[in-house]
Amino acid sequence: MNQELQTASKQDSPTEKRPIIFSAMQPTSGLTLGNYVGALKNWVELQKDYDCVYCVVDLHALTARPEAAALRKQTLDVAAMYIASGIDPARSLVFVQSHVPAHAQLSWVLSCFSQLGELNKMTQFKEKSDKHGATTGLFTYPVLQAADILLYQANLVPVGEDQKQHLELSRNIAERVNHYYANTLTVPEVFIPKVGARIMSLQDPTKKMSKSDENPKATIFLTDSADEIRGKIKRAVTDSGTEVRRGEERPAITNLLTLYHIATGESFEAIEERFVGKGYGDFKQELADALVALIEPISTRFHAIRNDKAALNDILKKGAEEANRRANRTLRKLYKKLGIVELE
Ligand code: TRP
Repeated sequence: MNQELQTASKQDSPTEKRPIIFSAMQPTSGLTLGNYVGALKNWVELQKDYDCVYCVVDLHALTARPEAAALRKQTLDVAAMYIASGIDPARSLVFVQSHVPAHAQLSWVLSCFSQLGELNKMTQFKEKSDKHGATTGLFTYPVLQAADILLYQANLVPVGEDQKQHLELSRNIAERVNHYYANTLTVPEVFIPKVGARIMSLQDPTKKMSKSDENPKATIFLTDSADEIRGKIKRAVTDSGTEVRRGEERPAITNLLTLYHIATGESFEAIEERFVGKGYGDFKQELADALVALIEPISTRFHAIRNDKAALNDILKKGAEEANRRANRTLRKLYKKLGIVELE
């Protein structure tokens, strides 16, 4: 019976399968220009060559104990921002983690294949437990992350450098499961895209631009209006001197040049050349124009998607259905090997 089912589903699936990408963001607060440049822009491009699965990991966000209203809002915000950035729900799977119970279910199973010792080495737990308290949820956060990835049999996981350790753990867990139950889980490769220089705070160029900065002028959000962007660039700190040129002793203007380079794609040399003899004022004016040209369309699409509740709900519902189908296939395969009784 099961044999027949398996053969049938194999024949149904297309012969040339694209490699699978999985990635995710926590709905913890508004997304920034840094999120776009470091992740979303790249996720959009990957849709051309991969079978992409993009998740909003609301269960992970519980480790920071958010307010209910904030979590609800930000979960929808992040989903809408995926789409506003160019992720096409008709081509890629877009869904919310908690809508697929298999994430929590597989996470439990995987916790039985994880060692205290290896989880103890996770540096993010050490950093975050100072802030949020050392809950067991925070401790097993990387196991839930492994479940996210392994459920979809992902081949590649694009993440920032800070997630490398979690990915290594996911690989180790997958290999351990496969050691006992051969050919069960795909061992994912980490894929760290080459991001240009890091984007720093507009108010303190020695600090990374962060969504949780207490100074709202320090960060450009993808939801900012044209006026807000212009205001933030106008008020951005600059270095003493007047030259629009990169340099270690000019961290503020270097950061603004990075933003200009990101927004226009122009080389640093070409930009510097064009602003020879001009001052910070002219440069800031043009930088603001370039950033508005990049962000305004995203922000406009975001608000349109976010304001059409029924349409967004529909996308997430369809996403959840397909994600449940794919995730349950993996979960059932492993349950069966483990000896979990299936009801007829
Ligand atoms: N831990 C990731 C972060 O904070 C978010 C995340 C959860 C994730 N599950 C994932 C990223 C699976 C990639 C794959 O950024």
